[in-house]
Amino acid sequence: MNAQPPNLPTPKMLGGQNALVTGANSGIGQGIARELAAAGANVVVNYVAKPEVAQAICDDINAQGEGKAIAIEADVSKEDQVQAMFAEAVKQFGTLDIVCSNAGIQRDANLTDMTLEQWNQVISVNLTGAFLVARAAVREFTRRGMREVSCALGKLIFTSSVHEVIPWAGHCNYATTKGGIMLLMRSLAQELAPQKIRVNSICPGAIETAINRNAWETPEAAAALTRLIPYGRIGLPIEIARVAAWLASDQSDYLCGTSIFVDGGMTLYPGFATGG
Ligand code: BGC
Repeated sequence: MNAQPPNLPTPKMLGGQNALVTGANSGIGQGIARELAAAGANVVVNYVAKPEVAQAICDDINAQGEGKAIAIEADVSKEDQVQAMFAEAVKQFGTLDIVCSNAGIQRDANLTDMTLEQWNQVISVNLTGAFLVARAAVREFTRRGMREVSCALGKLIFTSSVHEVIPWAGHCNYATTKGGIMLLMRSLAQELAPQKIRVNSICPGAIETAINRNAWETPEAAAALTRLIPYGRIGLPIEIARVAAWLASDQSDYLCGTSIFVDGGMTLYPGFATGG
C-alpha cells in the first residue's frame, strides 16, 4: 500500500501514568501500546494468543527507555481472566490511569450463512469484552482515587470503528458490536464524568492490519478500498495511536463522550462526491 503518515516525534504527555491496552500484540493495539509508552506511560500489553509476540513488543518498548511494558494474557470475554489481568497489572504497576479497550475480532458472513458461533464470538469479544474491561478499569480508578499525574481520575478509551455509523453488509455481527460500543461509551461517559473519569472512543477507518488484509493486499483490492477514502490512502496503526495518546493525556481534558473518527474521510459518504 501507499500509506505514508508524517514522521513526527512523540510528545511526552503521559509521564508517570500507567496504561493497559487490550489486544495489544497486533494491529492497532500494538501501535497504541508503543505510542503510549513513547509518550512516557508504563504499559500492560494484553494478549490472548502468541505470548512470544507480546513479549517481543514489551522487549522493544523496554529497550526504548521511556515507559516500561509488561505482557499479561487474558481473554477479554472471560470475566475471571479480565479480573485476574487487572489484579496483576495493579500488583506490578500500583494502579492504572489509562485503559484502552481495543481487542476486537471479525467473523464475517452474510446473514443467512452466519452461524450462531460467529455471532456469539464477535459479540463476546468486542462488546462483552468492552463491558468487562470498562468495569474493571472504573473499579480500579475509583478504588485508588485522584493522583497528581492527571487532572482526571481515569481515562477509558474504546477502539470502535467507522462501522459504529456505517452499516456493513456481510458483517452484521461486527457492525452491531461497534454500534453497541457507541452507546456503551456515551452512557458510561454520562455516568462517570461527574467522577472525573473521561470516556471516549476512537473510530478508525481502513487501517492496514491483519484484520482487513484481504481488503488491501492485492492491487485491485487496494484500489477498491482507496475509492472509499477521500484522503486517498489507507491508514497505519500509528495514526490511531497518536490520537489515543492525546486522548489519554490532559491535552484533551475537556473531551467526554466523544467518538473521534480517524478515517481519511471514509465517513464523508465519498459516493456522493460525484453523485446524488
Ligand atoms: C474493520 C476493517 C475495515 C474498516 C473500514 C474496521 O473497523 O475492522 O476490516 O477495513 O473498518 O471498513
